[in-house]
Amino acid sequence: MADNQSTPRQPSRREPVLTPGGVADQLSRLELPAPSNLNLEIPNRSNLPPAPDSAISTTSIRSNDTGDISGPEPEYITQARNKNRSESVSEQLSAQLSKMNFPQPEHIFGPNEGGSAAAKERNAQNQGVSDADWARVQLDDEVPEAVKEPVRMTHSRNVSRVDAATPSHASLQPSPIPEGTETAAVAREQKITPFDVEGGVDADGKETGIDYEKVVRRFGATMISPDLLERFEKLTGHRPHPLLRRGTFFSHRDFNLILDRYEKGQPFYLYTGRGPSSDSMHMGHLIPFMFTAWLQRVFNVPLVVQITDDEKYLLERDAKKQAALQKKIKAKKPLNLLDHYHKMGQDNIKDIIACGVLPEKTFIFSNLSYVGGPFYRNVVLMGKTLTVNNVKGVFGFSDSDNAGMFHFAAIQATPSFSNSFPQIFGERDDIPCLIPCAIDQDPYFLVTRDSADKLGYKKPCLLHSKFLPALQGANTKMSASNENSAIFMTDDAKKIAKKIKSHAFSGGGATQEEHQRLGGNPDIDVAYQYLSFFEDDDEKMKSLSDGYRAGTLSTSQMKEACIAKITAVVEEFQKNRAAVTDEILHAYQDPTRKIDPRPVAKTQE
Ligand code: TYM
Repeated sequence: MADNQSTPRQPSRREPVLTPGGVADQLSRLELPAPSNLNLEIPNRSNLPPAPDSAISTTSIRSNDTGDISGPEPEYITQARNKNRSESVSEQLSAQLSKMNFPQPEHIFGPNEGGSAAAKERNAQNQGVSDADWARVQLDDEVPEAVKEPVRMTHSRNVSRVDAATPSHASLQPSPIPEGTETAAVAREQKITPFDVEGGVDADGKETGIDYEKVVRRFGATMISPDLLERFEKLTGHRPHPLLRRGTFFSHRDFNLILDRYEKGQPFYLYTGRGPSSDSMHMGHLIPFMFTAWLQRVFNVPLVVQITDDEKYLLERDAKKQAALQKKIKAKKPLNLLDHYHKMGQDNIKDIIACGVLPEKTFIFSNLSYVGGPFYRNVVLMGKTLTVNNVKGVFGFSDSDNAGMFHFAAIQATPSFSNSFPQIFGERDDIPCLIPCAIDQDPYFLVTRDSADKLGYKKPCLLHSKFLPALQGANTKMSASNENSAIFMTDDAKKIAKKIKSHAFSGGGATQEEHQRLGGNPDIDVAYQYLSFFEDDDEKMKSLSDGYRAGTLSTSQMKEACIAKITAVVEEFQKNRAAVTDEILHAYQDPTRKIDPRPVAKTQE
């Protein structure tokens, strides 16, 4: 056999070697004429500003009549260029993050919680998962028949289960009242959607607060029972978090299935999110995030956090308000407003990190930066399962709302599907998630669960919380859009004291004398309510409540106790927040950083 058939042909000395780099080099030496109508000005890269941290570049293409299209390199090109480099950087960062001993808020985890030495050691070694590891993971679950073959409600060809299950407006239409339930006449029904939360008003014009049992009935969720909590404690060995045992997290969808998986050592993950409407989160937002951070430690599973900077731009439905906001932030055009939401999202991510989510197991992403690739494929699949009827019915949108809002439901649904995160789950689409959130977000996941069936994906499971009320009282939630309704995580001790003293609705008597004679009502007292969200000590809560009812504890004493607790929580948070550098912020958002999805068998603890 001739030699030249088996040996690759060596280039002769005189022949130039053709490599992509060599070709590019040769081309760059050719003096090719530039098209005369293009005034190409090659920017000197060393003079360019550093690449922005996201897909959004605030410097836009120059638009003048000369046709000059030069400008900074578009961010997506920079990202593609950096991708290769970032793979190795991300490996280093993963290693660094896993060694980081990030401060954990004590009141969240308690002195002895927050991960054993063995878990820390294991996490330090977790650098993504190999195919062989996956093969060892037990995935063929014994899924209850009801989930494999969900009982279909009768629905006509064009009506999905969501249409059938959801009244034409989830928050407004009365649902069937179970037999034997008394119904009081109401002047205004309560309204719970992702965009509005309002308690009811009775026939006498009195605010009735939010009736959570009614919400659960209407949304078709299930109340968390003492048995379920007992099972949680038995399986995990952790006493339920105060927010669980006091009923703040009060309702669920299929949490029992997540516990089944935990028991069998099968993988699952946590998913939650934030729509950046202010540059600082408020204390209400802290509820799902601090609870999620605690759950992540209990289960030791991956967490994905979606930042819906796109949603907040789309949801400003009022054109006048949008114009006023653009003016306020000196935005020349809508793009600058979109950037503004993205920037607030980045600030909010620092807040979320400060809640103590596990660095090596958490991926946080801004929709404006991350959506694409396998994630976008699922957005498309999800989008097609939704009809305009569905979305109108569940979210209460009207024909004059923008089409982006209708489509957004598909984007908030998509993190529920595990193959949206190839850096964690590869192509596995059979790993379910558990979503802790307040009940206002449930409509998104009602439609997601319906669509999951159609797509052959797992349904997301949920844990719902009640709302931290506005300072003004339990008829609405604390909201970032009303500065005086909320305590922000950036407020200082003086501001917190002032807000609580002057705005917190009191359940005490009208006068001191009346309070001492008749006692107060802690159930509607905002200071007591706040304490019940943040004070871990059950004994202390009981003594405050008893004293208030007996009239021996005054409204101002209750407010003082609340101010002390809230100030301590906020100050501890601020300390953690100050430790979150830009490097940490970027590391959490690195889409190439591998995260180990394997569950940890209980025996290894
Ligand atoms: P957003 O930013 O309105 O709220 C973030 C999370 O905080 C909860 N929440 C509250 N919890 C208790 N008391 C309150 N007063 C209070 N106000 C808000 C919300 O229920 C939410 O859990 N569209 C979402 C962002 C998102 C998301 C998700 C949320 C995307 N994917 C998955 C939860 C789960 C939003 O605008 O959240």
